[in-house]
Parts: sequence; C-alpha cells; structure tokens
Amino acid sequence: MSEKTKVAQSVKFFKKNFPGFRPKALLVLGTGLGELRGSLEPGESLAYHEIPHFPRSTVKGHTGSLCFCRTNGLDLAVLRGRVHAYEGYSPQEVVRTIRVIRLLGAETAVLTNAAGSLNPLFDQGSIMCISDHINLTGENPLIGQDVQEWGPLFPDMSRVYCPNLRNMVQKAALRLGFALNTGVYVGIKGPSLETPAETRAFRNLGGDAIGMSTVLEVIAARHMGMGILGLSCLTNKNLPDCMAETSHEEILEAAGNINKQLSRLLQDFFSSLSRQLQGLENDI
Ligand code: HPA
Repeated sequence: MSEKTKVAQSVKFFKKNFPGFRPKALLVLGTGLGELRGSLEPGESLAYHEIPHFPRSTVKGHTGSLCFCRTNGLDLAVLRGRVHAYEGYSPQEVVRTIRVIRLLGAETAVLTNAAGSLNPLFDQGSIMCISDHINLTGENPLIGQDVQEWGPLFPDMSRVYCPNLRNMVQKAALRLGFALNTGVYVGIKGPSLETPAETRAFRNLGGDAIGMSTVLEVIAARHMGMGILGLSCLTNKNLPDCMAETSHEEILEAAGNINKQLSRLLQDFFSSLSRQLQGLENDI
C-alpha cells in the first residue's frame, strides 16, 4: 500500500469517527516531555495503536498517544511521543502523524525534543528555540513518491523556523522571566550518543544542540506549508574536551525536570497564538 493511501486512510478514520476534530495547531512532545501540565484542556485521547497506520513508539519516555486539547479557544492535536528512524522506522513512517494532522487542518507545528547542548554557553536544563537545523540523518521523508497534494518536491528551506512564532515564544519566555537560548539543531540518526570527536565536529559545523529527532518532521511539515516552531530541552551538555557520560535514564530525568518550565512556556505561547489567530492581537 502506498504512503499516500496510508495517510489518506488515517485521515478518513478521524473524519468518520471524530468529525469535530479540526485542530488548528499540532504539538509534538518529545522524549520525557509527555507529562505536560498546565492549562491545556485535554479531550479525547487515543493510543497510536488505535489509529490506522500510526506507528507505535517503542522507546521508554514516549507515551504514544494523541490527545485532542483545547487551550484559550485553540484546538490542538497533542502527540505525546514520536517514533524515530533509530527504532527502524522509515522516514515516511516517522513523519506520517505530522502529515495526517496537517491534512486535518493544523497550520502550525510546535515540535519539542530533548537534546544535548553543544554550545558551551547553553546550560543543561535550559530551553533552546531552534533557529535552523542541519539534517545529518542521511534520510529525507520526501524521497520516493512525489505527492503533489502534499507540496512541491523541492521545498524552499531558506527560512524553515517561522520568525513570527520564534518572536512569540521569546516574548512568552520574557513574560515568564527566563531567557531562551537560540541556536542550530543538529539531527542525527542515533541511537548511539556521540564520541568526543563527533561532538567537536558537530560543534565546528555550526551546531548548538544535537538530538535524534525533529529534522525529518520539520522537512515534512515545511513541505506541507506549515508554520514551524522548534524547542529543544537541553538535557545534557556535551563538551568534547571533558565529555561526561550520559545515559538515556539521565536524559529522561533531566527532561522531566524541564517539563514544568516548558509547560508554562507553551501555555503562554499558545494563548498568544490563539489571540493572533482570532485577530485579537497585533503586537505579540
Ligand atoms: N545526543 C543526541 N541526542 C540526545 C542527546 C545527546 O547528547 N541528549 C538528548 N538527546
């Protein structure tokens, strides 16, 4: 069965069973970040295995459910957990959920992840707003069948992370009294963490943070014309000359500690977005 058919069947499932589900925005909660608390009013929740063709997360720290939420009048699809290329999933499978939610109406994608800091000035426990990325996964979700309805085969990537959304989230952080770092996210396939030599090389390439997700989703979301915001929760700091040992458990624990701050940030951000979409606010 073609990827186009799988995506179409998934979309059909939602239209038939949840006709009122018309999300305006999509939020993806990455590793260890699924326990978002705050003012999101959760509605119906479905496990990925209940949705046709949604791939299941196999990794600890990824709940694997889609939640229909509302915040300040804004309908949101929240994906708690994602799948990765390192689990053996194809790039098409990795981005399938994004495509389905886009076809259900979402125009904005907020993608969060856990990442290692490559910039010596970016502390563990802080949040980085992604300004750009370097895709080093060796994969691309646009390879293969060219589905015209999804977007152009050669999408422009000159300004992928929406300046307006970045500005909005920076203002939200200021209102909450903390600074957000801004920088370049390097996406690798994983699942092994980096050696000191790789860390030095990725930093020299221009990376400020590194992780094993997000870039393929961003390419697919951009291809379909979505406005994109990317937020990296820096769970560990990678300094090539004094590499500390890192484990998945530590990453999960650190992500859990950033949850509260991320939750407040997203709450404030979505309330600005909602006001902007309703035309209630010009100066966000
Ligand atoms: N490297 C790659 N992926 C990661 C890291 C890291 O240091 N931390 C969290 N995800």
